[in-house]
Amino acid sequence: MKKKEVVLSGIRATGKLHLGNYLGAMKFFAQLSQDDSKECFFFIANLHTLTTKTDPDDIKRDLKEIVLDYISIGIDPSIATIFAQSSVPETCELTWLLGCLTPVADLERMPHFKDKKDKKEALGEIVNSGLLTYPVLMAADILGPRANLVPVGEDQHPHVELARELARRFNTIYGETFPIPELLSGEAVRVPGLDGSGKMGKSDYNTIDLSDSPETVIKKISKAVTDPARQRRNDPGDPSVCNIYALHMLISSGQELAQVLEGCRTADIGCMNCKEILSKNIVNILSPIQQKRAELVDKGLDFPLEILNDGGERARKIIAETVEEVKDKMGVPMY
Ligand code: TRP
Repeated sequence: MKKKEVVLSGIRATGKLHLGNYLGAMKFFAQLSQDDSKECFFFIANLHTLTTKTDPDDIKRDLKEIVLDYISIGIDPSIATIFAQSSVPETCELTWLLGCLTPVADLERMPHFKDKKDKKEALGEIVNSGLLTYPVLMAADILGPRANLVPVGEDQHPHVELARELARRFNTIYGETFPIPELLSGEAVRVPGLDGSGKMGKSDYNTIDLSDSPETVIKKISKAVTDPARQRRNDPGDPSVCNIYALHMLISSGQELAQVLEGCRTADIGCMNCKEILSKNIVNILSPIQQKRAELVDKGLDFPLEILNDGGERARKIIAETVEEVKDKMGVPMY
């Protein structure tokens, strides 16, 4: 039997998931998990979360929420492995080992670090060293299960590039050990925010959450920014600069999409009308996810923990084996 390709991706536990997470990545995770030629690992990067969040109760709550989100968007936990980063202590060992092969300058150059550092400094907060070594932990996440494919958004590409470099460096010094992980960004899309900013973001007030009710979706969309030049009902609009049309392109399709495009250009339909169509289609995407989620919630509070126990055990077995081999090759086995 041909060896399956190992797919790995993670998501930080920082609050509710939104439509941007779903369309940008998670929908793709679900498709990958249904592909027989792939062995998928999806985890919650709760150790990475500690670089920016400190409330233990929040971190625990968000973790469980993400487990429910993963399953309700269509990842079957009996096929893909869903686990918490903190369930695999060997990943932290691997982080140290890989850190000894990582130039500090490479870490200081990371856009993610520079951005976070500037923001923390501007607020007068300390810049913790976890922010600097964040990509080494991420490389350990990837190399631990010897992942071949890593589906992540654009902002994470420099981190995956570091994981590739570390895999190459390790293989050169200590002999063939890791496959070189490939980025899998084919289907990844950037989902615009409701406020006209480039991206729907977790921390901003510009998101549609996966848990939003139909009424909330309608309300949020009705307030969202549109083509600023289209002020009156009879002004023709320019869909190419309109936020709402950008969302339509990701969500609507066929004749309806063509009608929205044409209707806006000719002022045949107004912004309210266009937004109603978008809201209806968003609600159609969210309803089955919310229904599935409600069924999972009915299983009780322990359900996400059972999934994490089971997934953690599976992931740990595989990762621990790699780390033992790495320690041995580096001359620091467990005596
Ligand atoms: N840093 C990623 C993010 O914020 C999450 C993550 C952590 C990850 N480790 C990973 C993604 C390993 C892919 C592979 O989105």
